Amino acid sequence: MRWFNPQSALAAVYVMILSLPTSEAITYSPIKPPSYPLAVRSPYLSAWIPGNSVASLSSSRAQFWAGNDLIWSVTARVDGVAYNLFGVKVPLSGTKSGTVTEATYTSTHSTFTVQAGSRTFTLDFFSPISPKNYLRQSLPFSYLTVTVAAGDSSSVQIYSDLDHSWVGQASDVSWSYSTKTTTGVFQIQGADASTYSENSNGQALWGSAVYATRPAGGGSLSTASGPSASVRQSFISNGTLSGTHAEWTANGVVGFAHDLGTTAKEVAVTFAVGHVREESINFLGEAQTGYYRATYADTVDAVSHFLDDYSDASEESVTFDALVQSTGISSYGSNYSDILALSTRQVYGGIEITIPNESLDTGTTRAFIKEISSDGNINTVDVIFATFPIFYILSPGYLKLLLDPILQYSGSDGYTKEYAVHEIGASYPNATGHPEDGEEMPIEESGNIIILTYAYQLATGKTDLATTYASQLSQYAQYLYKNGLYPTAQLSLNDALGELANQTNLAVKAAIGLATYGALTNQANYTTAGKSFAEKIWSDHLGTDAAGTRFLIQYGITPWFLVYNHYPDLLFGLDIFPEEAYNATAAFYPTVRQKAGVPLDGAIGWGQTNWQSFVAATVTGSARELLIKDLHAYVANGLNSAPFSDRYWVQDSGQYVAGDSYSFRARPTLGSHFALAALGGANTWDY
Ligand SMILES: *[C@@H]1O[C@H](CO)[C@@H](O)[C@H](O)[C@H]1NC(C)=O
Ligand SMILES: *[C@@H]1O[C@H](CO)[C@@H](O)[C@H](O)[C@H]1NC(C)=O
Ligand SMILES: *[C@@H]1O[C@H](CO)[C@@H](O)[C@H](O)[C@H]1NC(C)=O
Ligand SMILES: *[C@@H]1O[C@H](CO)[C@@H](O)[C@H](O)[C@H]1NC(C)=O
Ligand SMILES: *[C@@H]1O[C@H](CO)[C@@H](O)[C@H](O)[C@H]1NC(C)=O
Ligand SMILES: *[C@@H]1O[C@H](CO)[C@@H](O)[C@H](O)[C@H]1NC(C)=O
Ligand SMILES: *[C@@H]1O[C@H](CO)[C@@H](O)[C@H](O)[C@H]1NC(C)=O
Repeated sequence: MRWFNPQSALAAVYVMILSLPTSEAITYSPIKPPSYPLAVRSPYLSAWIPGNSVASLSSSRAQFWAGNDLIWSVTARVDGVAYNLFGVKVPLSGTKSGTVTEATYTSTHSTFTVQAGSRTFTLDFFSPISPKNYLRQSLPFSYLTVTVAAGDSSSVQIYSDLDHSWVGQASDVSWSYSTKTTTGVFQIQGADASTYSENSNGQALWGSAVYATRPAGGGSLSTASGPSASVRQSFISNGTLSGTHAEWTANGVVGFAHDLGTTAKEVAVTFAVGHVREESINFLGEAQTGYYRATYADTVDAVSHFLDDYSDASEESVTFDALVQSTGISSYGSNYSDILALSTRQVYGGIEITIPNESLDTGTTRAFIKEISSDGNINTVDVIFATFPIFYILSPGYLKLLLDPILQYSGSDGYTKEYAVHEIGASYPNATGHPEDGEEMPIEESGNIIILTYAYQLATGKTDLATTYASQLSQYAQYLYKNGLYPTAQLSLNDALGELANQTNLAVKAAIGLATYGALTNQANYTTAGKSFAEKIWSDHLGTDAAGTRFLIQYGITPWFLVYNHYPDLLFGLDIFPEEAYNATAAFYPTVRQKAGVPLDGAIGWGQTNWQSFVAATVTGSARELLIKDLHAYVANGLNSAPFSDRYWVQDSGQYVAGDSYSFRARPTLGSHFALAALGGANTWDY
C-alpha cells in the first residue's frame, strides 16, 4: 500500500498541465499515418508510435507491433532545464515538455522535430533497408539520432533510456554493460526463457535487447542503470549519470547521457537499439542464426560495427528513399508514393536473413518471413505471394531465399501431399514443418509456388530454383491441370471465407499457374491449358454472371468477387485472359465501391489493401484512380493507430465505421502495394 502524499499529487497535477500538448499546428509530411515505424527490423524488433500520439510525443510511449508499451525515452537539457522529448509518460517534477512542430516519414526514416526552450531537436528513427546487402540488412538494430540544431550558445545534454519491456518479460531479467573502445553497450536479457518461445504479444522470450551509443561532437558520455526515477533524476539535476550499474530492478532502466557542453553548433548523437537472438530460427531441427554473425559473431562487435556503418547506411537510405519516392510518383503520383514509403519498413521488418548457426556458412543463406498478427505462421506461401511485387522490382533474390526452405521441406519425407504446402511451421520461429492439422490450400499454394519461382527467374535471369526443384514444380503443375478448373471445397488465401467449392479466383490462379509453368519450362501445352481454363472461366461465363460483366465468388453463385489472381498475367505478359475481361472489371468495380473503398466481395463490408492493390494494377482509368485514392484516404484518415493494417472496413459495420482497420496489423504483406509499380519492370532498382 502507498501513502497518499498530497504534495506530490499537487506536483503531479502541475506537471500534467505543463506537459499538455500545445495547440500549435504540427506539420505532418507527407501525411499523418496510423503509426510511424520507429525501430522496425525484424518480427522481434518492431517499435512504433501511433500517428495520433505524435502531438504528445514527450509523454507517449513507443509500442511493440502488438500495441503493448515499450519503455524508451529521450530527455534533453538546455541550460540546465530538462525537456522531455519522447516517451516520458510520468514526467519528473521540474521537467518540461518539448513541443513537436514537424513529423515526417520516408521509406526508412521517421523524423520528429521538437522545440525545447531555445533549441530545436530532431529525433530521427532510422531503420535501414538494404535488401541486396545481406550483412547490413540482417543486423537486428535500428538507429535513433538526436540532433540539436545550431542555435544560441547554450549548454546541451541529451539522455535516453530503455528497459526490459523490450525482452517481453517483467521478472528474472539481467542487465550487463560492456564497452568496446568508446562505445557503451547495455544488454538486457531475460533469464530461463526457453529458446524459440514468445510471450502473448509475440515478443521473443529468448535473446537480448541491446542499447548502445558512443560520444559524438566532442561531447562526453556517461551511463547508469538502476531505478528509473533515480537514473532520470540524476540526469535532470546534473546532466550526467553516475556510472553505476546496478542489478536489474523491476522499475529500472539502462540510460546514457551525452554532455555536449556549451555549443551553438549543430551536434548529433546516435543510439543503436536492437534485439538479438543467437539461435534465431529452428529450421527442421537445425538452428539458424543472423547472417551478420558470419562476420560479427559477438553482439558487442555487431552493434559496434552497426554504429561504424551509420554514415554508409545513411547515405544508402537517401538513395533508397529517393528511389521509392520517384518510383511511386512515376507509377501513379504522390498519393501512391506516400503509400509505398509507409509500406517498405513493414515488409522488410517481417523478414530475417539467416545462415546455419553451426557452420556460419553464407553459402546456405535463407530467409524467413513471419505472418505477423494473423497467425504467426512461418514462410506462408500466400504471404510471400502477397508480398512478391516489391521483391520483383527491388530484391528478387529474396524470392529464392524464402522459397528454398519451403521447397526443401516439401520435397522431404516430412511432407507427403501432392500439392504445395501452405507454410513450414505454425509458429515463427519454429520452421519445423507443416502441422497435421494446419491449413491446406492446395490450388492456391501450388499456383503460388510456380508464379513465385517464375518471378524470381524472370527478374534475375537465374534458372537455379527451377532446376533444383524441377520435379516438385512439375508435380504442382500436374495438380493444377487435374484439379484447377473445378476446385473442390477448400480454402483460398482469403481463408475468412471458409472452404468454398468452385472458387472463381482459385480457378483463375490455376489458369495463370499453368500458363506461368509453360513460360517457366518452355512447354507450350501448359500455356494452352491455362488459356483454355481462362476461356471457360471468362468467355464461357463459368466464373462470371450470365452477361459476362463481373467475376463471381463461386461458379453460378453470387456475390461478385474482387478477382486479383490474373495480376501475373499482366506482369509476366502471358496474355491468358482477354482484354475484354480487364475492361469489364475496370468498368464494374467503381459501381460497387462503398463509402471507403471496394470490398473483397459483394457480401462483406471490408476490403484488403493487398488485393485492392493487385487489382489497381490490372484495371486502368478511373477504376485505378479510385483504388489508389481510397487506399490513400484510408491511410490518411486519422481513425487508426495500429501499424498499417492491410484489412479495413469499407462501410459502417456494427461498431466500426468506414475507414477503420480490421484486426490485422504490421503484416509484411504490404509488398502487394508495389503491384502497380512492378509493371514498370523487374529488378529495376539497381543502386
Ligand atoms: C517453438 O518450439 C519450442 C520447442 O517446442 C516451444 O517451446 C516454443 O514455445 C515454440 N514457439 C512458439 C512461438 O510457439
Ligand atoms: C549530482 O552529482 C553529484 C556530484 O557527483 C552527486 O553527489 C549527486 O548525487 C548527483 N545528483 C543526483 C540527483 O544524482
Ligand atoms: C549456436 O552457436 C553457438 C556459437 O557457436 C553455440 O554456442 C550454440 O550452442 C549453438 N546453438 C545450437 C542450438 O547449435
Ligand atoms: C462446380 O461447378 C460445376 C459446374 O458448374 C458443377 O457441375 C459442380 O457440381 C460444382 N461443384 C461443386 C462441389 O459444387
Ligand atoms: C505437356 O507435354 C508434356 C511433354 O509432351 C507432357 O509430359 C505433359 O503431360 C503435357 N502437359 C499438359 C498439361 O498437357
Ligand atoms: C478495352 O478498352 C480499351 C480502352 O478503352 C479499348 O481501346 C479496347 O478496344 C477495349 N477492348 C475490348 C476488347 O473491348
Ligand atoms: C490523394 O488522396 C486523397 C485522399 O487521401 C484524395 O483526396 C486526393 O484526391 C488524391 N489525389 C489524387 C490525385 O488522386
